[in-house]
Amino acid sequence: MKFPILTAVLLGLVLTPALADHHQQTEVSKKISFGGGYQLMTINRKWLVASIEQKTNHGSWKTIWNYDTGFMATKVLPEKVCYLSIMNRTEMPSFDALPQLAADIRNHNRPRPPSKEITFTLVKRTIRDLESYGPDTFSMCRGLSTYVAYEVHGPQFSLGSCIKLDVLQYLALTYCHNDNFV
Ligand SMILES: *[C@@H]1O[C@H](CO)[C@@H](O)[C@H](O)[C@H]1NC(C)=O
Repeated sequence: MKFPILTAVLLGLVLTPALADHHQQTEVSKKISFGGGYQLMTINRKWLVASIEQKTNHGSWKTIWNYDTGFMATKVLPEKVCYLSIMNRTEMPSFDALPQLAADIRNHNRPRPPSKEITFTLVKRTIRDLESYGPDTFSMCRGLSTYVAYEVHGPQFSLGSCIKLDVLQYLALTYCHNDNFV
C-alpha cells in the first residue's frame, strides 16, 4: 500500500514546480521607471503579443505588437488616436529578443536615445474589421480615431507634424500627420 502513495507524492513534487513555472512564463511584465513616469512591457508568450505602455504626467501611449498576426497598433493619449500598421519584421526586434531589451535598460541609469527609428505617415480611416487585429488591439482602439500608418524611408517628402515615441530606449516610433489631413 505504501508504494502507490509514495509515487503520488513524488509525482506531485515533480509536477508542481513544472506547472508553476509554465504559468509564470505565459505572461511576463517588466516595469522601467524614469524621471516623471514609467514604461511597462508585457509579453504574452502564448499569444505572441507584446505591449509597451508609457505613462507620464503629460500623457500616455501604448503600443501592441502582435507577432502572430504581424500587425502593430499604437494608442496615444490625450489625443485619443490609434495608429494601425504592418509590423516590419526586418526592423522590429524579434519576439524572443524583447525580454533582453528590457533587461538591458536596467543596467543604464540615464535614458539613452533609441538606436533605431521607424517613421510612419498616417491616413485617417474607419477600420470596419477592427476585431481582426486581435482582442487587445480591438479593446484598445475601439471608439478612438483610427489611422493606418504606412512606413516611409528617407526625407523625400513633407511629413507634417510628428509624434515620436521612444520604446524601451531602443526603438523610436515616429508617426507623422500629413498636414493636409489634420
Ligand atoms: C522593411 O524594412 C526594410 C529595412 O529597413 C526596408 O528595406 C523595407 O522597405 C521595409 N518594408 C516596408 C513595407 O516598408
